[in-house]
Amino acid sequence: MHVRAVAAATTVFMGAVLLLPTSAAHAAPDTDGPLVVAHRGASAYAPENTLAAVDKADEMGFSWVENDVQRTKDGRLVIVHDASLARTTDVEELYPDRAPWNVADFTAAEIARLDAGSWFGSDYAGARVPTLEQYMRRVSRNHQKLVLEIKNPRLYPGIEQQTLKVLGNEGWLSPSRLRKLVIQSFSADTVRRIHELRPAVKTGFLGTPDIADLPEYATFSDQINSSYTTISESYVATIHALDGPHGKPLEILAWTVNDADNAREVAGYGVDGIITNKPDVVSEATRS
Ligand code: G3P
Ligand code: CA
Repeated sequence: MHVRAVAAATTVFMGAVLLLPTSAAHAAPDTDGPLVVAHRGASAYAPENTLAAVDKADEMGFSWVENDVQRTKDGRLVIVHDASLARTTDVEELYPDRAPWNVADFTAAEIARLDAGSWFGSDYAGARVPTLEQYMRRVSRNHQKLVLEIKNPRLYPGIEQQTLKVLGNEGWLSPSRLRKLVIQSFSADTVRRIHELRPAVKTGFLGTPDIADLPEYATFSDQINSSYTTISESYVATIHALDGPHGKPLEILAWTVNDADNAREVAGYGVDGIITNKPDVVSEATRS
């Protein structure tokens, strides 16, 4: 099939997926443009990587969310973006002598005491850093779909297997749930490891590999998810011309696009999805 036809068919398919209701109360407003993924939850409107942020995406009608997973000192997986807890919690107040306040230096019980919402706004005071289990249960409750990023994997040996274990325990490796899951990372080794451990899981590599290297990435990654500032129409077409590890055309999600002009531009390139802090803005700009 011609590359443009493949891209169009992919977009139509993604649109069809988004026509499905996300929950009894909310229907997805984005039906015919690229897939819209709420980055760290709807993080322009609620504190990133909290349950409130995935609820906000749900309330706005967006079923796909992206979040980041890391590991505590005592081996629990938690949803947080930075290696340090300082930016998005009150950890410096509660534990003033524990600089640089790295996730890996705190137990899950210590992290559970942190306020991960007040930095964003008083409406969110008391929001917590969720464990991966808590987070998966909320995404399940909301009937949402997930791009889960394994963040800083070099800090957490074995996090790939551990993440898959939790996902399995929470029922997210069943055939029906696998259609709602992508695991991505900036680490090619981590993406390859996920593919080797659980070949049925859809994977994404975060970055913009050289075109010559794309066929190798396509052996273990279903998506190449690139900064929107690094891609072009021809790069997108090159990606779509390759088949990924599941025999389907390689996909590309562009991040992090938070304004209408850039959303329209990358949508015009034919990207399969856009990862954004402002899913409403991107949805409105890209619906045809
Ligand atoms: O999903 C893309 C994006 O999350 C990658 O960058 O730093 O926001 O995790 P970052
Ligand atoms: Ca991320």
